[in-house]
Amino acid sequence: MARYKIAILISGRGSNMAALIEACKDDAYPADVALVISNRPDALGLEIARAADIPTRVIEHGDFDSREEFDAAMTAALAAAEVRLICLAGFMRLLSAEFCQRWRDSLINVHPSLLPAFKGLHVHEHMLETGVRIAGCTVHFVRPEMDEGPILVQAAVAIAADDTPETLAARILVQEHRIYPLAVRLIVEGRARTAGGVVAIETYELPDDVLINPPLA
Ligand code: GAR
Repeated sequence: MARYKIAILISGRGSNMAALIEACKDDAYPADVALVISNRPDALGLEIARAADIPTRVIEHGDFDSREEFDAAMTAALAAAEVRLICLAGFMRLLSAEFCQRWRDSLINVHPSLLPAFKGLHVHEHMLETGVRIAGCTVHFVRPEMDEGPILVQAAVAIAADDTPETLAARILVQEHRIYPLAVRLIVEGRARTAGGVVAIETYELPDDVLINPPLA
């Protein structure tokens, strides 16, 4: 069976992109990365993609007069590459309503919190300021409102008493790298469908553990 073509949109480091590229190296994984687009020419992730022989494009938002024109240029590149799923991976631009509609249910994002809590930027600082005990990350379908949309997969991460934003971000990132390839697989295999604002996932086995933090003695 032909593997499902995905695109990844980045703005920086590209570690989630690298996790997806790595997953796609497995013959048993049902997707291939057909295109990586960065809105910044200096994004470190571009080097990782080039080293993996993935086609890359730089589409700089500053070259366009409006968000809509920038998004239209991206849509043209994505359609030309015949991709069926677009993965935002640290892509730090808001997308127009037109773009979100054009790719509705074919556009997903990873965010370093248990959405709908802690949307936006500086989430690790906000979590520590708020004193929540359990952090995490989310892969979700994208809607025009920032960090909104039906949730595909989440992972929970306990917060340690001595965490800094950096140590917490690093532990959450490890889980982002696990759940993003899983979310792509669920979509590609037709096991995740949006239904009335939530995602229905085909039967799976729920682990019977519970994360309590601080842990029971
Ligand atoms: C990741 O932690 C991702 O969840 C976050 O940016 C980082 C990108 O890292 N995205 C957002 O905050 C989107 N709202 P990466 O470039 O190494 O994948």
